[in-house]
Amino acid sequence: MTASPPTTYPVPSDLYTEPADIDVDTLACLGPLRAMAGIWSGERGLDVKPKAEGPKKQAYVERIELQPIDPQTNGPQLLYGLRYHTHITKPGQVKTYHDQVGYWLWEPATGTVIHTLAIPRAQVAMAAGTTTADATRFELVATQGLETWGICSAPFIQQAFRTTSFRIEVTINADGSWGYEEDTVLMIRGQTEPFHHTDRNRLVKIAEPTPNPLANARR
Ligand code: HEM
Repeated sequence: MTASPPTTYPVPSDLYTEPADIDVDTLACLGPLRAMAGIWSGERGLDVKPKAEGPKKQAYVERIELQPIDPQTNGPQLLYGLRYHTHITKPGQVKTYHDQVGYWLWEPATGTVIHTLAIPRAQVAMAAGTTTADATRFELVATQGLETWGICSAPFIQQAFRTTSFRIEVTINADGSWGYEEDTVLMIRGQTEPFHHTDRNRLVKIAEPTPNPLANARR
């Protein structure tokens, strides 16, 4: 179950006091993101991308690393998270087809999942959704023009391939794998209809995550 991310927050009067008794074992506190921690391989990705002649489908292979970080506080706000890097090539090739870094964050107090992403096209986005700690399917959305949960692009792609929204749905499978389906909506210069730049893949675990520094030290 997923709801749209709230764009306001019940900010308390004390902006500085951190929560007491923070559990430093991030892997135990990741809510629905726990199933995504680790190193993953996806052999059957499918990308639909914009080309001059129209939409083009491309198969891809992917390696994603999602490693726990220490609990993060913004004063009273407490976030648990995974730092990630995904690297994508065409099958059998070395040359990078797509590269993306960022964080997946979980705020237990509000049931919010946050996905920050940066891609080397000079573009960043932050998507969010609300869900439950035991969810096995959840959706996150970023919308251009919002001051929160937005999208920011450098001038070339802003003018030539303006990204108006980004949506990702994650599904955690019973066999321990997980998958995503995402839709990046582009307004391409000279075209009147939005272009749906879509991607999907299923990820199989190839290594367990490394515990976050504070959890490691406690052991
Ligand atoms: C698995 C995920 C993704 C893959 C494999 C992928 C791949 C690609 C490729 C290969 C192109 C170039 C098309 C060409 O000119 O040949 C492209 C274009 C583009 N992508 Fe993605 N992409 C992914 C996700 C995203 C995301 C998450 C965003 C932004 C939120 C994004 C934004 C763009 C934009 C704005 C363009 C147009 C720029 C251009 O064609 O020069 N992509 N993508």
